[in-house]
Amino acid sequence: MTAEPLEYALDRREDLGEPAGFPGAGRLVLRAARESDLPELRRLDEEVFQEVAYPAFLLRQLYDMYAGHLLVLDEGEGRLRGYVLAATTALNRDSWILGLCVTPDRRRHGLGRELMTEILARLRRDGIEHVRLTVEPANRAAILLYRSLGFRPEQPGDGLRRDYFGPGQDRQILRLALPGNR
Ligand SMILES: CC(C)(COP(=O)(O)OP(=O)(O)OC[C@H]1O[C@@H](n2cnc3c(N)ncnc32)[C@H](O)[C@@H]1OP(=O)(O)O)[C@@H](O)C(=O)NCCC(=O)NCCS
Repeated sequence: MTAEPLEYALDRREDLGEPAGFPGAGRLVLRAARESDLPELRRLDEEVFQEVAYPAFLLRQLYDMYAGHLLVLDEGEGRLRGYVLAATTALNRDSWILGLCVTPDRRRHGLGRELMTEILARLRRDGIEHVRLTVEPANRAAILLYRSLGFRPEQPGDGLRRDYFGPGQDRQILRLALPGNR
């Protein structure tokens, strides 16, 4: 798998909901995660996902395994505003999106879509053919985003898996086929 370095600025300040003169706010940069990001990544994950955030040890090991597919939105001065994480396996051409978030103050400005579009492009380039993810059935924002990118419920049925993460924790599984790239 290629783990090509990635870094580009998201310059469209007004598109990204950054009011003119917003104190201390620099440009957002979308880039591959670094080991030094781990404490801030953990803080961000806890801010957004709270009791279902990844434990520190697991986040660390996910980084160890999938750093090439862990992208962050860097606001500068050590502050992250979002991330996306995809897991791949050497055994087949499938992948799972294991995390996606944008901080509440930066939502609805195209950043979630930017993170997803970039990770899907990287997965496709790395030869991945299918991407799956789980989403809370009531998470309308995420489901609309995923559906607009082409994800559809995994068969059978509507992708709903009862008690997927334990009693009462249903999830819907969505799946996307990436067009061949070789
Ligand atoms: C899901 C999430 C990452 C979306 O990030 P975002 O930067 O706000 O999303 P975008 O601005 O790129 O929106 C992309 C599309 O998602 C959908 N969408 C996003 N937020 C929405 C909302 N509140 N209501 C309805 N649709 C929404 C829309 O289809 C939107 O396209 P449009 O702007 O053309 O209408 C963000 O809401 C988030 O971090 N949520 C909490 C964590 C989470 O639920 N992660 C997913 C776990 S499976």
